[in-house]
Amino acid sequence: MVTEIDPKVLHKSLERVGKGQSGMYTMFIPHPVVQITDFDVMREAFIENGEAFTGRPQNKIIQEVFSFAPNAVYHNKLSLTFRRDHSTGEVWREQRRAAVSILRDFGMGKNHMEELVCSSIEDYLIHLDTVADKENIDFALAYTGDVANVINEVLFGFRYKYDDCQPLMDYVICVNEINQYIVDNVTRARRDYNVEDEPTCFVHACKQRMQENNNLDDVNLMTTCSDFFLAGQETTTTTLRWAMLIMAKSQEIQEKLRAEIHAVVGTERLPTMADQVKMPYARACVLELQRFANILGTNVQRTTTQDVIIRGQRIPEGTWVNADIHYVMANDPIFENSDEFRPERYLAVDGSSLRKVGPLKTGAGI
Ligand code: HEM
Repeated sequence: MVTEIDPKVLHKSLERVGKGQSGMYTMFIPHPVVQITDFDVMREAFIENGEAFTGRPQNKIIQEVFSFAPNAVYHNKLSLTFRRDHSTGEVWREQRRAAVSILRDFGMGKNHMEELVCSSIEDYLIHLDTVADKENIDFALAYTGDVANVINEVLFGFRYKYDDCQPLMDYVICVNEINQYIVDNVTRARRDYNVEDEPTCFVHACKQRMQENNNLDDVNLMTTCSDFFLAGQETTTTTLRWAMLIMAKSQEIQEKLRAEIHAVVGTERLPTMADQVKMPYARACVLELQRFANILGTNVQRTTTQDVIIRGQRIPEGTWVNADIHYVMANDPIFENSDEFRPERYLAVDGSSLRKVGPLKTGAGI
């Protein structure tokens, strides 16, 4: 089976193999990987039996590439994304719970995240004004800096200026530098913060919670910060680049989107999350962008943490499982003419509310 896979066009190879299968099949690479290519089967596995699918594969390559602290797994130092303490799951669970709760405090409670994104966009627009040759703008680099800057500010509480962001760019462009950058910034943010004060960034909030939670410590905090950059940087930047390309190519869609923005937001201010409810077309564009822009050749692999039965088939503990979201988005009959960019497919018949269809590219929804 592995000979049928071309890593350069992984999604296409998996699509070819999946076409003759029934929604769940095993691929040997050479070890078995269960491929799930049907939305209902994904729901049965990841929602109805979610607990059994919370593992991540552990092997030498994953440890070397994605680990903040090589071999730290043996000392219970875990990466949020790629490490799981399989025996109990306790440390990873606590780390994840704390991360989600801190992000919620920052994002939803106080709209802090939205403010950061908006002020970062303001910086970006000012930067665009200063570019002399407006016919040839390198959006890729600007997006990279912009997205990294938002993540940086959430984690460490400060933002770089456009013309003075070399340390950040060195770090995001050259992943090798990841460890030192994270160590330096976590150390600084930690040192400058007194736990009696209101936390103003992720590191502060973690330091505060470490007082009463033994499962949180410095190395785990660093692995989490590193994960946010690894998982959030390239994904968001590439999606934004796709957005620019698609909008340039689809002038009619761009006009419709612009009309909605002008009608709801006007031209004097930035949009806010509160505007969303009045902007069904913009929301449909975002959903369609995430469906259409194939930014991950394959989903991030999971492993089963216990034996589990899905569609009457037993999947043993420790099996690799891939929920192939791209396959569903490209092949499920619900996405008619899936190779066309058509935001309307996410709109209800009345045109003013959203139709709930299929999974999301981020894995949310499954
Ligand atoms: C367009 C943007 C993004 C896409 C397409 C994307 C996609 C994904 C996917 C497919 C997964 C695997 C889900 C699964 O295992 O079922 C994932 C996990 C993750 N993402 Fe994202 N992501 C995006 C943005 C971000 C951002 C901005 C952050 C944080 C700054 C982030 C942090 C994470 C983390 C920490 C995980 C691992 C969660 C866990 O293992 O429990 N992602 N993402």
